[in-house]
Amino acid sequence: MSEKKIIAVVGATGKQGGGLARAILADPYGGYAVRALTRDATTERAQQLVKQGAEVIEANNFDEESLVRAFQGAHGAFIVTNFWEHLSADKEFQEATNLANAARRAGLKHVVWSTFEDTRDLVKDDRMPTLQGRFKVPHFDVKAEADELFRASGVPTTFLRTTFYWENLAGNWRANRDEDGVLTLSWPQGDSPLAGIASDDIGAVAYQILKGGDEFAGQTVGIAGEFLTGNQIAEGLTRAIGEPVVYRPLTADAFRALGYDEGGNMHQYYDEFADNFLGQRDLNVVRRIHPRLQTFDEWLRLHADTIPTD
Ligand SMILES: NC(=O)c1ccc[n+]([C@@H]2O[C@H](COP(=O)([O-])OP(=O)(O)OC[C@H]3O[C@@H](n4cnc5c(N)ncnc54)[C@H](OP(=O)(O)O)[C@@H]3O)[C@@H](O)[C@H]2O)c1
Repeated sequence: MSEKKIIAVVGATGKQGGGLARAILADPYGGYAVRALTRDATTERAQQLVKQGAEVIEANNFDEESLVRAFQGAHGAFIVTNFWEHLSADKEFQEATNLANAARRAGLKHVVWSTFEDTRDLVKDDRMPTLQGRFKVPHFDVKAEADELFRASGVPTTFLRTTFYWENLAGNWRANRDEDGVLTLSWPQGDSPLAGIASDDIGAVAYQILKGGDEFAGQTVGIAGEFLTGNQIAEGLTRAIGEPVVYRPLTADAFRALGYDEGGNMHQYYDEFADNFLGQRDLNVVRRIHPRLQTFDEWLRLHADTIPTD
């Protein structure tokens, strides 16, 4: 058998990269091997990857030389940067700069860059505050700005436009008990559907794109698993946990007033530009790439026990 092609996976200990690592490791005859990048190879998550058959290598997105070493000899890479680690668009851009440079210097044949659209292409007025000097939704817009770094690197790149993970429902976007004791989702999303996805499916789609190679190089692929309104998400949660969950939307201004500028702008964008956001994510295309794409109910069947009810 010919040697396996190595995929360097940035964020392999996290949700998106972890999904890709699992997809590759679950396909031992697929011809690909995982090289998992982490800042600390001694953590439980990193060691778990070793046990599952991945090569684990230490690298830091703020240290370009470490990234060149980690990418050397690899066929391709999945690249994700974590805005929430530092909440700084400028720092995220620096990470992307180092990663794109390293991909070029290591001579990678294919990169899948986990990105978003630039909300400023549509939000051209002051309906929402400008954040961090020049952004509307910084963690979207800066990733879109960084697309150019990968184009300029000359490395064949696929621009994978991701979306809201359902895993958020077990974390910062969980249902909380309202004053009346009812588990309540309160987001400024109006009645517009939210494009959601199982984070594992982002990795699974990325794997198929890397396998597809030339077919996807230079392409932008928008992904989602299902489009659901707040009410439909609440109904799904109700079915899954056996206790009523309701959706009580608030205005984007009210959400921002709670201190959530970034999230308020993001939901306002999802709501007021829903046609555009959803329109760029063709579920039939995603399903053609990855036929086992999960619906929300399928995801809930596997993850109901992670939904907090306290
Ligand atoms: N939450 C959502 O719904 C959603 C949806 C779409 C896109 N996103 C985007 O997803 C990104 C986060 O990805 P995720 O959710 O997969 O991450 P995650 O589960 O929070 O894990 C973070 C990952 O990033 C790695 N990492 C962080 N800083 C690093 C650095 N300086 N150098 C090298 N690796 C570093 C961590 O590795 P170690 O700790 O092992 O070093 C870890 O694997 C964010 O930028 C966000 O905008 C989020």
